[in-house]
Amino acid sequence: MTTLGTPLSPHATKVMLLGSGELGKEVLIALQRLGVETIAVDRYDNAPGQQVSHHARTITMSDPAQLKALIEAERPHLVVPEIEAIATPMLEELEAAGVVRVIPTARAARLTMDREGIRVLAAETLGLPTSPYKFCNSLDELQAAIDAGIGYPCIVKPVMSSSGKGQSKIDGPADVQKAWDTAMAGGRVSHGRVIVEGFIDFDYEITQLTVRALGAEGQIETHFCDPIGHVQVSGDYVESWQPHPMHPAALEKSRQIAKAVTDNLGGQGLFGVELFVKGEQVWFSEVSPRPHDTGLVTLCTQHQSEFELHARAILGLPVDTSLRNPGASAVIYGGVDAVGIVFDGVEEALRVPGTDLRLFGKPESFAKRRMGVALARAGDVEAARVNATLAASKVRPRQV
Ligand SMILES: Nc1ncnc2c1ncn2[C@@H]1O[C@H](COP(=O)(O)OP(=O)(O)OP(=O)(O)O)[C@@H](O)[C@H]1O
Ligand SMILES: [Mg+2]
Repeated sequence: MTTLGTPLSPHATKVMLLGSGELGKEVLIALQRLGVETIAVDRYDNAPGQQVSHHARTITMSDPAQLKALIEAERPHLVVPEIEAIATPMLEELEAAGVVRVIPTARAARLTMDREGIRVLAAETLGLPTSPYKFCNSLDELQAAIDAGIGYPCIVKPVMSSSGKGQSKIDGPADVQKAWDTAMAGGRVSHGRVIVEGFIDFDYEITQLTVRALGAEGQIETHFCDPIGHVQVSGDYVESWQPHPMHPAALEKSRQIAKAVTDNLGGQGLFGVELFVKGEQVWFSEVSPRPHDTGLVTLCTQHQSEFELHARAILGLPVDTSLRNPGASAVIYGGVDAVGIVFDGVEEALRVPGTDLRLFGKPESFAKRRMGVALARAGDVEAARVNATLAASKVRPRQV
């Protein structure tokens, strides 16, 4: 049985979000609606989620001492990692000591914080199909791995990075040095380790949102959302839609893979399982133990968005993953490097039928920073994609 408290009272149910960007902001809103007391943590002040939370804290989340001090001071019931760059060994320590419960588990946060933990688990422990891969610590090791079997084309990624940062494709021997340099410049932590993956010539890629939530008898049940299709440019999502039509055999395989990996990571909450599909063949790519950026589309397609599903699942409440209508999302980039920008064309965007908008409220814009998203519902995915892209194009960020 779940009992929820009154926020800002001695019996509040307290949840701390580690990372308060656009995805964390929507989770926080979902928690606020259930009367949860929220603490939004980020590395800079006035992050999107901090603007809708009871409490805002700014710390370096990759610093174990700062993280420990904050958790011990706030004593939340749940700690919800929303980004990867967190001192996860400290979370494991605090969880083991019974200080706090980490969502979905501290181990899942650690294994997914870099590409190595999760890839080794998926491919070697669970035996799931993945691209051929090798981890390398130098340019020489990278060249040797390619020559010894990874071959061309292939993709090089820093072990620690997200949103395509430091990632590049190698088509032939002439690209190897450049890919290595790009990875060294783009990694989150410059410890000089990369993964090189054989290039998968997939027909399409999907995100399989998967929820582990409590059933009526207190047992964990796994629920699947409809598959989300998406387009990535330079490793960053620009457009997504739901449902993505799939061959029944490919859908079945996708869900088996999603179940295997989420069963192993354990705990309660929503996961975004990234998969590549070619015909009936499916490859596991990676998993986020939290809402996924391509899942922003669920704000206009499902009865309960991925953010509401996460909030409910972590609180031990029942979930409903059913689709309400087809829809699409299109990303709005900042286009300029400036603080406190304005957005023209919002009313034109919202005049496109069936559309909605999220402007994240990030204090600082960068040309390639995601500042908002256009959402469109429609009778079918094709119409929704056209309208989401149209609405996004109407919004014009501008420096004042
Ligand atoms: N082995 C591969 N073969 C073909 N395409 C790939 C491969 N690896 C990655 N990609 C393409 O690059 C995209 C980004 O890769 P990946 O998800 O590993 O990076 P990321 O930095 O974690 O991105 P994000 O954080 O946005 O999920 C994939 O969604 C896919 O389109
Ligand atoms: Mg990815």
